[in-house]
Amino acid sequence: MTAPLGLVALPVWLPAGRPAGPAPASPAGGEPASGHVPVLRAEVLAALAPRDGGIYLDATFGGGGYAEAILSAAACTVFAIDRDPEAIARGAALAARFPGRLHLAQGRFGDVLAGALAPDGLLAGHGVRALDGVAFDLGVSSFQLDDPARGFSFRTDGPLDMRMDRAGPTASDLVNRLGERELADLLHEFGEERAARRIARAIVAARAEAPIETTARLAGIIRAVLPPDRSGIDPATRSFQALRIRVNDELGEIERGLEAAAALLAPGGRLVVVAFHSLEDRLVKRFMLAASGRAPSPSRHDPRGLLVREAPRFHLLGGALLRPGTAEVAANPRARSGRLRAMERLVRPVEAGSPERAGRGAAHPGGAAAGEGAT
Ligand SMILES: C[S@@+](CC[C@H](N)C(=O)[O-])C[C@H]1O[C@@H](n2cnc3c(N)ncnc32)[C@H](O)[C@@H]1O
Repeated sequence: MTAPLGLVALPVWLPAGRPAGPAPASPAGGEPASGHVPVLRAEVLAALAPRDGGIYLDATFGGGGYAEAILSAAACTVFAIDRDPEAIARGAALAARFPGRLHLAQGRFGDVLAGALAPDGLLAGHGVRALDGVAFDLGVSSFQLDDPARGFSFRTDGPLDMRMDRAGPTASDLVNRLGERELADLLHEFGEERAARRIARAIVAARAEAPIETTARLAGIIRAVLPPDRSGIDPATRSFQALRIRVNDELGEIERGLEAAAALLAPGGRLVVVAFHSLEDRLVKRFMLAASGRAPSPSRHDPRGLLVREAPRFHLLGGALLRPGTAEVAANPRARSGRLRAMERLVRPVEAGSPERAGRGAAHPGGAAAGEGAT
């Protein structure tokens, strides 16, 4: 069952007495170590349950909030990836605080994880063959959103860029080059925008006068088509989300990244994912249900995409999707749409047709049966 926003479905991995509240302050106290307030940090940490000597991967380093929490929780090693060179550059300070324990890599998690065991790959290069836990915190960081020069936000004017790694076509390129039909499909598919056709028509008319190169101009065009409704949500929100997803191939990255991460987990290793909108979360949910043998997925061996139920490689942790509590949302409004899902690699994969499960068991009462009917 999905917990309504603001209500916390208390997961079974959360140690008793630990409030599912806002992220703890940085070890220095006061302000968090970064301009990005990590979402569901305590819950991510509880789900990963880092242990001394363990090897963990933060697939979306951002401001380093998760990596810092993992490094502080146990005498472990953390590999961290971010496709944004600025995030990796900022991470040098955290690496210096934990000498030899934080390894940073710039790149897309889909590529970096798929190649991690190649001789010069992220893990094999350090003599590592498997991971004890992987965390994904999908989407963009506050560093990216709040910098007008990155072009992610309609709240401040800036170049219409939106590239996390500053490579490939920008949002401006798409908006000025795609045909009206393609634009409408993009806004509908990645923004779930019902007024996609009207907005695409307005964009095509506006760009005939002058190329659309700034966030403010695009937001103005959308607002002229779609007046604000009673929800208080800016009418440009869904279109900006759609462009960002397409510019960065975010959904393709999630599919590749989850598959590669799951393959790198040692028995008992945990995969924890925080998603922020339904398109992301749908992929995460589908992947986890299929990997835990609870839902059929397209066969990897059948070119027609025949649906098969995989023999479970994982079991789901927690009885339900976890969302931030009211205190966290009040302290950090950007947390409001966060949703966490987690699963654990089985120690012995279940034979097809066998009801047997074997996770980390008693030490982590994630519960073999937990997650039945998870939303
Ligand atoms: C929500 S932020 C992560 C914040 C982080 N957990 C923290 O506590 O500071 C997401 C980060 O993931 C990065 N990112 C998004 N997609 C990525 C991908 N496919 N590969 C690598 N990094 C990615 C973004 O550049 C951004 O810095």
